[in-house]
Amino acid sequence: MELAIVQERIIPLSELDPVYLDRGIFFGDGVYDVMRSYSGHIFAFDDHIARFEYSLREIGITTVDIGLIREKIIDAFNRASIDDCMIYFHITRGSAMRSHDWDDDIEYNFFLTVTNLISPDPIKKTGVAVCSHEDFRWKRCDIKSLNLLPNVMAKRSAHEKNCFEAILFDSDGNITEGSSSAFFAVIDGCVVTRPLGREILSSVTRKYVELIAKDLGVTFIERSLTVDEAKNADELFLGVTTRDILGVVKFDSTVIGDAKVGPVTRLFEDTYAKIVRPTCKDLSAGI
Ligand code: PDD
Repeated sequence: MELAIVQERIIPLSELDPVYLDRGIFFGDGVYDVMRSYSGHIFAFDDHIARFEYSLREIGITTVDIGLIREKIIDAFNRASIDDCMIYFHITRGSAMRSHDWDDDIEYNFFLTVTNLISPDPIKKTGVAVCSHEDFRWKRCDIKSLNLLPNVMAKRSAHEKNCFEAILFDSDGNITEGSSSAFFAVIDGCVVTRPLGREILSSVTRKYVELIAKDLGVTFIERSLTVDEAKNADELFLGVTTRDILGVVKFDSTVIGDAKVGPVTRLFEDTYAKIVRPTCKDLSAGI
């Protein structure tokens, strides 16, 4: 008899819940996105949807009606009724017996959670420590794939060093991004960050940092940055949906600035806090 064991339970294969045969579990064969709300309004909804569509397309999941996904997300958000929440969602290629290739008629699986975010974020006050870590991910980091083992390993290594984030560097010693965040340096009043490409995720927060820079008249430079250069920067900060802008005060053993979140970072943080409100100035008009 074909069977499966789930923890202690022995189950005939014919009775197994397909959730256990999700290709997301077997292969990380799926993509996800994370958006958030501020005071009851989802921020940058269309940006996240566009990136999700891109990820789906790039891994060849072609059967998704994105309009339906939009509706599901909004419906879940309304039902949860949490003012400051994180919305996580993923689509996997579907459930089937484990086999690397898949049948053309496989049906995708959708999963979503709406959870609380603490607001205001307590770690923003002090900023965070980060550490460097080899980037040993695959060559399509522009796809928001469920394959996050290298990211998870880097994050854990940071945690073991009492750091909030691992800053990944490639084989040339250049920083790509954080294990789960975009990375920025402030050098001579300019904001410097890695150019977009297959080596990093197209961060939504990064897009708004660029727009804010334009609006404030701060030069936004897209170029590679070594770990040593970053340690000598005037300020460092991270960008991620769940925390928006987060100052960095220590990189490995190097104290950044005067160990406090720097003034340019604060300016971006404050401006960001203004644009996430629906009534605020629409910076996207300036793209
Ligand atoms: N991570 N780079 C990586 C590798 C990320 O995982 C993330 C976000 C970012 C920032 O992207 P955005 O500004 O669009 O949130 C950059 C999410 C939040 C996560 O995996 O939970």
